Amino acid sequence: MPSGALLFDLPDYPHERWTAHLRKFLPTLDIRATADAQTAADIAYCVAWKPAPGKLHNLPNLKIVFSMGAGVDGIVADPTYPRHIPLARVVDDTLAQAMSEYVVLSVLYWHRRLHDFIGLQRDKKWRQLPAPRAPQVRVGILGFGVLGQAATAPLRALNYQLSGWSATPKHVDGVKTFHGTAQLEVFLAQSDILVCLLPLTPDTRGILDAKTFAALPKDACVINAARGGHVVEDDLIKALDSGHLGGATLDVFSAEPLPATSPLWSHPKVVMTAHSAAFTDPESFMRQVATTIRRMDDGLPPENLVDFARGY
Ligand code: NAP
Ligand code: GLV
Repeated sequence: MPSGALLFDLPDYPHERWTAHLRKFLPTLDIRATADAQTAADIAYCVAWKPAPGKLHNLPNLKIVFSMGAGVDGIVADPTYPRHIPLARVVDDTLAQAMSEYVVLSVLYWHRRLHDFIGLQRDKKWRQLPAPRAPQVRVGILGFGVLGQAATAPLRALNYQLSGWSATPKHVDGVKTFHGTAQLEVFLAQSDILVCLLPLTPDTRGILDAKTFAALPKDACVINAARGGHVVEDDLIKALDSGHLGGATLDVFSAEPLPATSPLWSHPKVVMTAHSAAFTDPESFMRQVATTIRRMDDGLPPENLVDFARGY
């Protein structure tokens, strides 16, 4: 029996559709769409994505916050976030599956030169374009955590040469691993296709900049499915225009929705999607929330918690 109400603080999401799943798993849970000064003390659990600054701070009996996504930058960015309150993020097979699909799609797109073929078709030009075989293509995954590692299975099945870069050492069969700032340049120099799946933290903000692009091999392609704040957009455009980079797939942007004035909309070497690489599955997420609430009620520690010192 949950002790306290849950605030579902996702004003842009269909409240009823999402919370119906939660009701299925926890029929007695008191679920609220809002909390004001009178009712704030009732709230023990909160589901959030980009809460208004100060909002969580004003819930005096909060026991845990559930981020609606894997990335928590929209929540920890609030300096008033009460850091003694655990923050759980989404770690889920359905999310990993969706991200793996996006990564494979994007890697194949650049490797098999689909971008060039689309241009040729538009111009009604018949031209055969060769591409290297996958075992000759080096795919580097910048941010080798849950999602980065999940993407290696389908890429390995296609026989790409794989590498991953993380903060701490990793050992994954068939993947060359690198870690820490000291090994970043050597990792980049052997990445023909760079896939960014880092969390956005003060250490990783702006990591996709002129220096990083210069360290990549000529004609390398960049896929960013992490956060827009990782990319210095002017540096990316310069690296594409200079001919150093072959192309970029961008799912995320420093301003979302991307303003109509952004040159990225019409850049000939950019393919973009609207933050759609991997959506949180409402049912899976609500199952995770219910499981954690039950664990906490049984005196067990919650899982998939964010480490505030690292920021992810
Ligand atoms: P995760 O499991 O926490 O993995 C993050 C990885 O980045 C870890 O390998 C971590 O290293 C590494 N890392 C973090 N800071 C680093 C640093 N300063 N230097 C080197 N490596 C660093 O996260 P995840 O679940 O894979 O998710 C990754 C991100 O994907 C999320 O934060 C979110 O922003 C993004 N995302 C986007 C979408 C979308 O639709 N576009 C959907 C879901 C998620 P360690 O393992 O050594 O700690
Ligand atoms: C989506 O962007 C997520 O962080 O899950």
